[in-house]
Amino acid sequence: MRRPAKQSGAASKREEKGMGILKHLLAAAVGAAALASLSVSASAQTIGFSQVGSESDWRTAFSADMKAEAQKRGVNLKFSDAQQKEENQLKAVRSFIAQKVDAIIIAPVVVTGWDQVLKEAQAAKIPVFIVDRAVESDPSLYVTRIAADFNLEGRLAGAWLAQASKGNCNIVELQGTVGSAPAIERKKGFEAVISLFPSMKIVKSQSGNFTTSGGKEVMESFIKATDSLKGICAVWAHNDNMMLGAIQAMKEAGLKPGKDVLTVSVDGVPDIFKAMLAGESDASVELKSDIGKYIYDVVQGYLKGKRDYPKWVLIPSDLHTPADADEMLKKKGG
Ligand code: AHR
Repeated sequence: MRRPAKQSGAASKREEKGMGILKHLLAAAVGAAALASLSVSASAQTIGFSQVGSESDWRTAFSADMKAEAQKRGVNLKFSDAQQKEENQLKAVRSFIAQKVDAIIIAPVVVTGWDQVLKEAQAAKIPVFIVDRAVESDPSLYVTRIAADFNLEGRLAGAWLAQASKGNCNIVELQGTVGSAPAIERKKGFEAVISLFPSMKIVKSQSGNFTTSGGKEVMESFIKATDSLKGICAVWAHNDNMMLGAIQAMKEAGLKPGKDVLTVSVDGVPDIFKAMLAGESDASVELKSDIGKYIYDVVQGYLKGKRDYPKWVLIPSDLHTPADADEMLKKKGG
């Protein structure tokens, strides 16, 4: 066996000195790493979120999910409720820019009017993420949009109604907020499908602004104008809350929603599944509200340097009926 050669006294002193320097270097490196990790946690990401409002049960659930998920991840979330007014959103976004937040999330009320403020965020080098509703601005002004396909939701609703009515149906439509992406796209998708059936048509259409009270009011006027829905086979609402309002209006007029007329809407909120179990609603396309995890994954991934996001991160949608209402209600904790 080869033995290590015996070192001279000078050589072993040099080695000791070398080891000492190495220890100092190591200690410095460990210290620097600890400092770096401290500075990461001390500067937790600050994200501004401009939310549409609290017009529907879906929106309330989505806001709650965004707040809970931010807390879980240690994100400092600056939440602003625009009360369905774009001007409030523009103010909120400008205040996020002034506060130099790390990122801005916008769920836009309507599709137009965004170019200028998006350019201001870009000039301030703050990445913007569009969620839920869309904007008509140039896609280079934001990182990506994380949202469901509203047009598909409309087509799913139209296809269900075509089958349920055997392609023969006069429809009254409750539209969402005028100029909003879900109102525009759900209408287009629904119409694309029913246009394939010569005996299906929308005979009345008006906005109920995505609220229960709006849906009720518009439905009352439809009931009056059609002599208690004579010749009407279905109510199509761009969201569940307007349908819940319409159901109230029909019941107050002595009609039996879900029996006298078919109903189909969008969101899949707990109360629509309760209405299905009571036989008062027939179908709803689910718009998932627990999407905070997908949104923050993208925003935080971007802040860490990931760049290969598509311009639209798609959230899937599907249609539910009384057949799975009980299961859906349990899933939603209703
Ligand atoms: O943007 C999504 C729509 O907005 C939901 O379907 C509706 O409930 C909400 O107000």
